Amino acid sequence: MSDRLFIFDTTLRDGEQVPGCQLNTIEKIEIAKALEMLGVDVIEAGFPVSSPGDFNSVVEISKAVTWPTICALTRAVENDIRVAAEALKYAKHKRIHTGIGTSDYHIRHKFNSTREEILERAMACVKYAKSFVEDVQFYAEDAGRTDNEYLARVVEAVIAAGATVVNIPDTTGYCLPWDFGEKIRYLMENVRNVDKATIAIHCHNDLGMATANTISAIRNGARQAEVTINGIGERAGNTSLEEVVMTCKCHKELDIESNINTQRIYSTSRLVSSLMNMPVQANKALVGRNAFAHSSGIHQDGVLKNRESYEIIDPKDVGIDENSILLTARSGRAALKHRLHILGIDIDKEALDKAYESFLLLADRKKEITDDDILIIAGKHKGANRRLKLDFLQVTSGVGVHSVASVGLDIAGEKFEACASGNGPVDAAITAVKQIIHRHMVVKEFLIQAMNKGSNDVGKVHITVEYDGAHYYGFSANTDIVAASCEAFIDAINKFVK
Ligand code: KIV
Ligand code: ZN
Repeated sequence: MSDRLFIFDTTLRDGEQVPGCQLNTIEKIEIAKALEMLGVDVIEAGFPVSSPGDFNSVVEISKAVTWPTICALTRAVENDIRVAAEALKYAKHKRIHTGIGTSDYHIRHKFNSTREEILERAMACVKYAKSFVEDVQFYAEDAGRTDNEYLARVVEAVIAAGATVVNIPDTTGYCLPWDFGEKIRYLMENVRNVDKATIAIHCHNDLGMATANTISAIRNGARQAEVTINGIGERAGNTSLEEVVMTCKCHKELDIESNINTQRIYSTSRLVSSLMNMPVQANKALVGRNAFAHSSGIHQDGVLKNRESYEIIDPKDVGIDENSILLTARSGRAALKHRLHILGIDIDKEALDKAYESFLLLADRKKEITDDDILIIAGKHKGANRRLKLDFLQVTSGVGVHSVASVGLDIAGEKFEACASGNGPVDAAITAVKQIIHRHMVVKEFLIQAMNKGSNDVGKVHITVEYDGAHYYGFSANTDIVAASCEAFIDAINKFVK
């Protein structure tokens, strides 16, 4: 029988640290439930001491999810651990993830400490966490750059102190696959009590090696992989769940199996991308728009004769059904409900009615409605209670004329209007909004993206606005890209105008 690989998902903790990807509790619960259906073993739900919002999310996810273990992150600090234990109160299976930096960079520069002192603190935090929960995971931050001999001493000590899982992170994404594999082998061979705990790995993708390092570690004895959906995470991201799971499935010689229902990979990927407003790059392995698209004549010819000539994975294995029924203006409410269910979203009758209205409006403007469109429609009504809303927008633009925009805003029920010109329709619309709001706001980032193909496609707009020294993120999607830009700007303003 193959060995079991435990999948620890940190989309809601490491993934959520990405600027602009912050979720509210309801959205986090939605993702946690999708992760449960996907079959992950552990959900890292947050870092409870970091904010009341994070604390509350861990509490609510603990109540909402049944099978996976719910994990909460802490530093090697007693108060962090106490708060994490409190946040995990309702979890059916709970784990505290505590730890400290073990590389000399961390020991000397971050803690101004010594290896012996850090070893003591590592054991102490595990023992303290153990006084609250049975399942304690220790992380040796920057283990990728930690001296192997010292790392082995730390791992042995924390297992003796009661750690059930020991996480070896490549925090900076520095390691090469053969060196990282060697590190795991060294631990497997030199830590005397290694059989009393599971060795986990947590790789970052700064050099694009996260999946390679994870697979190399698994090959050398690691049995828990820490991953995120779509590989999101700090800087260049974390190891992606889909890549690790499908590599293990494709390469039988690794002789390892996870509990993941791979046919739910695609829908989970879409859900996370949509709720976090984080586009998936078109050529992203397994879940990108082009992952299974063959455009060159030679490839198409080969695929038509025999798929396996150019395809190592059947797209259906990750839940991409190319023959799935496309929704159009003629699709009924039941078809929309069914598609939402497949995408991991179950909504009540009232929300379905509203979503169906938006669906019909969009279907009037666009021939085929994609999964991305549906996720955006489902998410649109969440903003219904915002203080600022776009009431109307009219623009005149073209070649040889000035762009002019008239904008109407509804601010907590009161109506305001302004008219402005600009070097293009988006500039004119944003200037008009600024005239109404009267605050010094600077657009720092602005990205317009078509989601699929065709001139009738929905455009997504991501915007970052600087106000009073802080950055605020806004998002919108609309077939009219000037309207989407104006709505995204208003979405960002809603985050600071109370
Ligand atoms: O990258 C890292 O080292 C981490 C730890 C907190 C596990 O995210
Ligand atoms: Zn990390």
